[in-house]
This record gives sequence, C-alpha cells and structure tokens, in this order.
Amino acid sequence: MKALVLSGGSGTRLRPFSYSMPKQLIPIANKPVLEHVLENIRDLGVTEVGIIVGDRAAQISAALGDGSRLGLRLTYIPQEQPLGLAHCVTIAREFLGDDDFVMYLGDNMLPDGVKEIAREFAQNRPAAQIVVHKVADPRAFGVAELDTEGRVERLVEKPEQPISDLALIGVYFFTPAIHEAVGAIAPSARGELEITDAIQWLVASAAEVTASVYDGYWKDTGRADDVLDCNRKLLEGLVHSVRGEVDEDSVLIGPVVVEEGARVTGSRIVGPAVIGAGSLVEYSHIGPNTSIGRNCVLSHTHLDSSIALDGATVTEVRGLHGSLIGRMASIGPADVGTAHHRLVVGDHTRIEVAA
Ligand code: DAU
Repeated sequence: MKALVLSGGSGTRLRPFSYSMPKQLIPIANKPVLEHVLENIRDLGVTEVGIIVGDRAAQISAALGDGSRLGLRLTYIPQEQPLGLAHCVTIAREFLGDDDFVMYLGDNMLPDGVKEIAREFAQNRPAAQIVVHKVADPRAFGVAELDTEGRVERLVEKPEQPISDLALIGVYFFTPAIHEAVGAIAPSARGELEITDAIQWLVASAAEVTASVYDGYWKDTGRADDVLDCNRKLLEGLVHSVRGEVDEDSVLIGPVVVEEGARVTGSRIVGPAVIGAGSLVEYSHIGPNTSIGRNCVLSHTHLDSSIALDGATVTEVRGLHGSLIGRMASIGPADVGTAHHRLVVGDHTRIEVAA
C-alpha cells in the first residue's frame, strides 16, 4: 500500500500564519502537523508516500527532505492550484500506479492512529473505506449516512442540513477503483473536484464503500483554537526530559521537556510543557499545556495553554493564556512613561485585550 498526503491548499482559516507558512507546518507539541501525519502513516507499515504540495512546496520540502529521517520515501507532487481533493488523486495517478493507497489530509490529526482500520481495509478490500467520527455540528465537513452494516449509503460535502452526525475526518482507503470515479465527477458549487463526490459516485455505481468509526481524539487543525486544543491533547503524553540548563532558582512541576541548548532561569514551569532548543526562559511562569519553539525568549512573563513559534520574544507580559504567537513575533512593554498600548499587527491578526 502507498500513501497520498494532501498538503497543498490555501489555509485561509489559519491566517495570519498561512500568509507566511503552510498550515501543515504549524507545530503541535513542537513538531509540524505534517510530521505527526507522516508518523501515523509509518505506523501502518507504509513507506512510499506521495505529498501533494502547492505554492508552499519549498518550505515543505525544506522541513521534510526526502523523508529518510522519518523512515519514509517521499515523492513531491506539485499542484498548480487547489482544485480539490479528488483533483489531487488525478495528478498523483502516475505515482499511485495500480496500488491500493491511504489518502490522508495533511492538516488532520488522529493521534490514536488508524492501524485497526487499515488492517480491516487490507483484509476486505472494498472499493473505498472512509473514516468517520461523530461530531456535534457536521455542517463544516463531509457527512456520511450508513446502513446498519456500516456500508455507506450517501455522502454529502458540507451539507446545510446534515443527513447524520458522522463527519469524514481526512483519512480514506482506496483501491484503484477510485481512479475511474475521480475522472467521472464534475466540480462542485465551490469549484472543486470533491473526493466526497467521487466516493458517492462509487456508491451510486454499486461499488462496495464501507465506513469505520474512529472513536479517538481527532482535530482538523484548520483554526487557531483547534491547534491549541490539539497541542494540549498531544502534550498529555509528554515524558519529562531535561537536556538544556535549569538553574537552582527554577522549579519544574509535572512533565516538562527542556530541549538541548535551552536555558531556564528563576522560573516556574508547570507541565506538560516543552521549551524548545536554544530558547531562554527567565523569571517567568510557563505552562501548563504550553509549547515554546526554538530560539524564543520569554522574560518576566506568565504564559499558559499557548504555543510560541520559533524565534518569538515575550517580555514583561503577565496573564497570557490560549495564545498562538508567530515566528519572530515580539510582544513587550511600552517605552517608559507611555500610557498607551502600541501594536504593529499583521493582516487578519486577532488580539483580545482583557478590560
Ligand atoms: O477535515 C475534514 C474535511 O476535510 C472533510 O470532512 C471534508 O469532507 C473534506 O472535503 C475536507 O474539507 P476541508 O474544507 O477542511 O478541506 P481543506 O480545503 O482544508 O483541505 C484539506 C487538506 O487538503 C489540506 O491539508 C489542504 C489539502 N488540499 C486541499 C485542496 C482543496 C490540497 O492539497 N489540494 C487541494 O486542492
């Protein structure tokens, strides 16, 4: 079996981050979403992976290289425009050949893994096997209606009136039967070739399409709040490890990772929390549920339930909570004697100030 990972697209919901980086490279527990996805695929025993990349191809290949670091062989497949998930299958035809494959959306996190579902697929080989999850509001997703045996009766992409509460969650298993289906469908109202429509085409042609319910933790990391929630979830499994320097005036409570070259001085770190390589934390309270990237500086700051990306600086700000701080961003005090707040804020940035 091969894998096809979709990492193109525009990521407008994750502005302003998506202006400068692909959303699939946003770090969760200090590792890009895409790397978590690839590890999940490797756990299925799959090593041949095609990655669909859009205009951020260079950043993605710089982060992942040829995949050997992760024990994978990566083939980059450029997509000129985000014309839809089924379009991705079309342009990957040569890479996929006549092999079965798992298609995995590069911004979806299923940390509990899909090993059992993959095993079922390999055993039964239906034309397609989708993975679904019960959600409170399915309107933002593809939605599936199943019969009592778990066979798919109907699929609809982002329905206004959902036909069930089972959302498609970004992992699909296919036999080569999908190639005829993606060739047969027309673009949707939003102008994309929808994989949901291709699978519906298989259902309508009486091909066997099954669904497996995934009960574990799942997030589409398309929005900032989802990224933070996913970070909290992944940090639950953190194993305490200190490779950087922590001085005598600091306390570490619970599982804390202090990466190589990081320095913690006069601070209180409450786990789960990660302090990335080369970062400095001084006279600060950090955590819980917080990831600090590489080469950050946090000084006289209180920060919890947050993510700081590489190179961020936060000085003398207390009470920061639920924050996502971009690369090289700088947050600090006003000049002495100034009574104003001063902001130099990028497009589509959100700032919430307590009254
Ligand atoms: O998150 C689950 C949902 O993902 C499913 O419930 C929907 O059925 C499915 O259509 C998809 O919906 P989204 O609107 O969330 O898809 P998004 O545009 O975010 O794209 C998903 C991933 O695929 C993302 O990593 C970007 C990538 N992509 C997307 C398009 C449209 C591509 O690589 N090329 C594309 O043309």
